Amino acid sequence: MLPVMKRLFIASRGNPELLAQLFRAELPDFEVLTEQPQAGDADVPFIVVGRPLPGVIGSVPGLQLVLSLNAGIEHLLASGEVPDGLPIVRLVDDGLALGMAEWVLAQALAWHRNLFLYAEKQASGDWAPKQEKLANERKVTVLGAGALGRPVAEHFIRFGFDTHVWARSQHEIAGATTFAGRETLIEAVRGADILVNLLPLTSETADVVDAGVLDALADGGFFINGARGGHVVDADLIAALDSGKLSGAALDVFRIEPLPTDDPLWSHPKVRLSPHVAAPTHQSMAVKEMAANIRRFEQGEPVHHLVDRSLGY
Ligand code: NDP
Ligand code: OXD
Repeated sequence: MLPVMKRLFIASRGNPELLAQLFRAELPDFEVLTEQPQAGDADVPFIVVGRPLPGVIGSVPGLQLVLSLNAGIEHLLASGEVPDGLPIVRLVDDGLALGMAEWVLAQALAWHRNLFLYAEKQASGDWAPKQEKLANERKVTVLGAGALGRPVAEHFIRFGFDTHVWARSQHEIAGATTFAGRETLIEAVRGADILVNLLPLTSETADVVDAGVLDALADGGFFINGARGGHVVDADLIAALDSGKLSGAALDVFRIEPLPTDDPLWSHPKVRLSPHVAAPTHQSMAVKEMAANIRRFEQGEPVHHLVDRSLGY
């Protein structure tokens, strides 16, 4: 095997210089570039990308591995930016998993213990205790059993929630009831008080949270979306909130981001919004993960968290 050239290009529109410093510390034998290499330059086998401008990836000479700064890579596949056959590694690290678990559990527990409701009542000085339930009286369904979905489900289990998990393939998760495949979706969500979406956005999962799924939830249920806006039929969600089928929704992600100022979700009284911050990339952790994968690639070992292009995640 020919030796792999030790050159890495950071095509991030955020702060490439900070990333470059972190990579130089992890891979001191590498030349780390933050300016676009030109045709005719020496090969650059590795590229680190967030949301690169069109044409950037295709113009890097000798590229062998694309490393994403995000867990979700649908934008890289949809744009056709990454030439066929070029492997893509998505970001999986403890920082993302911990961040997502914090955000989802914060929303779920606040709803479960009526904290949103009491915050509203406080404004009018209304002392209005509700009949409080224990976690084991609530059913939760998590869509997705991957790097984010599984740890989130495990947190729910630890709190004592009746936890159900739906994925493409069958999973064993101690303490949870698991479901696999599209034909089990309605069964998996039926009667759930809390529905959590942690799926990747693919042709199979687009619009998955629609009127059929929302109708199957428990009356007055709560929906939490930490994955992508394209999973949800917004009109169906708003109808479910307006009819009282759902008592609320916590949304971190939207079809268009930033969410346009005239979008009805901004002012909906039952919607809690956050600006795509559920599980931000922590650069120092992400760089360690990516550097380890680059070393594996150099040494001819299997690279972790490769995207399966035929599945879209
Ligand atoms: P993974 O690829 O690790 O897990 C995806 C899960 O979804 C797997 O369990 C997979 O099933 C399941 N799945 C995929 N397709 C289907 C399908 N057609 N039907 C049923 N289940 C399906 O992804 P992550 O957990 O790392 O991330 C999930 C998503 O979270 C990302 O794609 C991204 O969109 C979003 N995200 C959001 C962030 C935020 O800040 N809001 C931050 C990071 C990520 P199986 O196990 O059988 O393969
Ligand atoms: C991601 C995200 O996919 O930030 O990592 O949403």
